[in-house]
Amino acid sequence: MKILVLNGSPKREGSDTLHITRAFLAGMNEAAPQEVHTIQVIDRHVEFCTGCFACMHSGGTCIHDDDMKDMLQEILESDLLIWSFPLYAYGMPAALKNVLDRTLPLSSMTMQKVGERYAHVGQADVSRLRNLMICGCGFPNSKHNFESAVAQFQLCFRGNHTILTVPESPMFNAPEAAPVTRPRLALVRQAGKQYAERGEIDPALVEEIGSPMIPEETYAAIVNGGV
Ligand SMILES: Cc1cc2nc3c(=O)[nH]c(=O)nc-3n(C[C@H](O)[C@H](O)[C@H](O)COP(=O)(O)O)c2cc1C
Repeated sequence: MKILVLNGSPKREGSDTLHITRAFLAGMNEAAPQEVHTIQVIDRHVEFCTGCFACMHSGGTCIHDDDMKDMLQEILESDLLIWSFPLYAYGMPAALKNVLDRTLPLSSMTMQKVGERYAHVGQADVSRLRNLMICGCGFPNSKHNFESAVAQFQLCFRGNHTILTVPESPMFNAPEAAPVTRPRLALVRQAGKQYAERGEIDPALVEEIGSPMIPEETYAAIVNGGV
């Protein structure tokens, strides 16, 4: 499978979240060899969308001539797009959101009713492309934290999305936390294997991966310097 990882963390390879993504990919590779390319989004030159809709009227040509041109091509050639990012202000970091906005050339201006809502009809064939969100965050709570990022991803990629969220993710970069992070990464690896084999992950496993690794209060006390 051709996999494109969009690393939305400005910390690049030092990203906490990328530990989760690497474990997931290791699981996928365990099932079958995968072809993976990672883009450090922060290092790409991507102008802001101006909202001119020229791309939707002109068959997909954006007014900007920047790195997004090659990225869109690579997206179209991929089977799986992994959006790996830390939760920033309950959403995705600005550089990655910018990339999401700039995928507009994949859609046409025509809108159609899908169930109870409207969506744009594609002008590029993305029917085989699947989208996976892997999101880490700094707070210990998943509730009242990940909801808006999850809702955005679900609405953008209805029908072909999978979502993994993991709280307390700075622990992945703390060697002393290995006794709790290692078993969690083993679960993520298991999820990656399942995903490669069946195209989905057992919901109970998704829930377990999304639960705090240590009690919320203990985590908060450590972060606050009290332990
Ligand atoms: C600008 C900014 C906004 C953040 N917003 C949130 C947030 O809304 N919820 C949360 O739990 N953590 C938040 N965090 C913490 C990060 O999600 C956390 O540090 C994460 O582990 C960083 O992952 P990374 O190393 O992959 O970039 C924020 C961090 C920054 C720098």
